[in-house]
Amino acid sequence: MIFETHAHYDDKAFYEDKSEVLKALEAGGIRRVVNIGSSFNSCKDTLKLMEEYPFIYGALGIHPSDTAEMDDTVLSWIEKESRHEKCVAVGEIGLDYYWPEPDKEVQKKWFIRQLELARKLNLPVVIHSRNAAMETIEIMKECQAEEIGGVIHCFSYSKEIAKIFLDMGFYIGIGGVITFKNAKKLKEAVSYIPMDRIVVETDSPYLAPEPNRGKRNNSLNLPYVIEAISHIKQISPAQVEEATWNNGNRLYRI
Ligand code: NI
Repeated sequence: MIFETHAHYDDKAFYEDKSEVLKALEAGGIRRVVNIGSSFNSCKDTLKLMEEYPFIYGALGIHPSDTAEMDDTVLSWIEKESRHEKCVAVGEIGLDYYWPEPDKEVQKKWFIRQLELARKLNLPVVIHSRNAAMETIEIMKECQAEEIGGVIHCFSYSKEIAKIFLDMGFYIGIGGVITFKNAKKLKEAVSYIPMDRIVVETDSPYLAPEPNRGKRNNSLNLPYVIEAISHIKQISPAQVEEATWNNGNRLYRI
């Protein structure tokens, strides 16, 4: 049983054939999916998916790149809707300094406000952090994120940075990039991260693993991620599948 901890089936890439894609997942051994909100609209669509599909859970939050549209009304809406029984986290939230917009101060403000919301709701957080390791850690420490808990999704930093997140009790989300030939630093990090703290994700429709790199991603590609981890950890794919299933349930408190 595979636990997909991070996907975006609300994305426009799935408008045409969403129901076929989602139907195929269960047959392919994908037993739980957490659909992750990133904008106000994608949060609304995440709620619909949670209602419609028994195996889909959801996280509501505003992605750092979408924080320009964020205001107190949206935050209160997220607070209200997150009380849904299938809503398992606040996210994705964080910092993305790869893109120059929105302004760093705007991103920081809403990262902090959404961390505070997760604390109030007693939910874990799904953190997106790109080109902003030190700033992410600084805010997490200020907000005592070790008391909130959650996952660093699509982890892309070194094992030294992984240690800091692990020391705060966070899980580490590993996706398709682990199958890329040039992912040396990430492979080192995965070799270091204990097996009871790794969860698997696709970030669909993005970041498809080898041999499907560049195509539209979906959760049926997770076995490639699991296989890559099993090579690094020198255990069987079945053991990786079982461990990451258990970790996903612990992370999202299901
Ligand atoms: Ni994502």
